[in-house]
Amino acid sequence: PRKGLVDRHGRTIDYLRVSVTDRCNYRCVYCMGSDTTFLPREEVLRLDEIDRLCSIFIGRGVRKLRLTGGEPLVRRNILVLIQSLSRHLRSGALEELTLTTNGSQLARLAPALRAAGVRRINLSLDTLDPDSFAGLTRRGRLADVLDGIDAALALGFALKLNMVVMRGVNDGEIEPLMLFAHERGMDLTLIEVMPLGGADGGRSAQFLPLTEARARLAERYTLIDVADRTCGPARYVRVTETGGRVGFVTPMTHSFCGTCNRLRLTCTGQLALCLGREGMVDLRTPLRLSDDDEAIHRAIDGAMLRKPKGHDFAAVPPGRPALARPMSMTGG
Ligand code: GTP
Ligand code: 5AD
Ligand code: SF4
Repeated sequence: PRKGLVDRHGRTIDYLRVSVTDRCNYRCVYCMGSDTTFLPREEVLRLDEIDRLCSIFIGRGVRKLRLTGGEPLVRRNILVLIQSLSRHLRSGALEELTLTTNGSQLARLAPALRAAGVRRINLSLDTLDPDSFAGLTRRGRLADVLDGIDAALALGFALKLNMVVMRGVNDGEIEPLMLFAHERGMDLTLIEVMPLGGADGGRSAQFLPLTEARARLAERYTLIDVADRTCGPARYVRVTETGGRVGFVTPMTHSFCGTCNRLRLTCTGQLALCLGREGMVDLRTPLRLSDDDEAIHRAIDGAMLRKPKGHDFAAVPPGRPALARPMSMTGG
């Protein structure tokens, strides 16, 4: 049998994030430019190719699979992929099959996702104000997302809201979003905006360290640190007054790279070794060259030796993205 995935820094990889499409029906300001062009179809992996690669990684010890995008739920026939991958849940090889979505398609797709074995969904929601939402996403309708949330909750999904906190844009909405989430039994995770994605668009000026967000919340609420449940980068507190949890993802102020457990597969079949670093390993070429998985395994072994210790966002000059690679290829 093949060895599990352990990198040069002793970190075990058991989590794969897969961007299934670079396309999205929204154009969030921190993620894409307004004039984004998408990849030609032949560049993007077919669903059966994604399935094959995911299955190889599961064979190498990946226990948690997250589909991202772009927006994963705008990929045509995405349910076919999810239903197929769910065989690994039934066999016990995979612990969790999940996704990160903008929620716009959830009202329609939640029942089928539930039937396919998805139990937990992370949903990006930066504001509860309809106008602000339309502005931030450039073409989204808040009501669609709220309908999606209702539908998913009614079906018993565990939902987590992801909020990218931007000073002067939505930092006044941390408390309303927290109350909205906690009233409905959802976690809220706050995220520091990273120098990734399309043109800077004011991102660096909007940066707000989450230490500040936490201090503001602590003026009104009792925050109790809790042990991490999902092994992700977020550090969680429980809010005594609401009973709910708030997570803090702090790539800019507190590095969590030392416990990194993840790799990312881009929609073009490149294995991205770190969200904040350029290095990628091409899996599409060996995938398309042969039905034999041997060359893919070798490429993965090589990748494990090259996974960097961490990002270096601190060294990125303001106003410039850290990477040429768009966020929509790696899905956050
Ligand atoms: P759970 O812990 O299972 O809820 O998932 P997660 O936090 O890994 O996934 P999610 O898609 O909700 O991630 C939230 C955000 O955290 C991402 O969109 C990224 O912005 C950020 N993030 C996740 N993983 C990393 C990472 O490895 N490095 C950095 N710098 N940021 C990350
Ligand atoms: N900085 C921080 N988070 C980002 N996301 C997208 N771009 C950025 C960025 N530049 C987040 C989205 C979503 C997840 C997939 O990635 O809000 O929650
Ligand atoms: Fe689409 Fe997500 Fe990027 Fe927004 S952050 S444009 S919802 S992929």
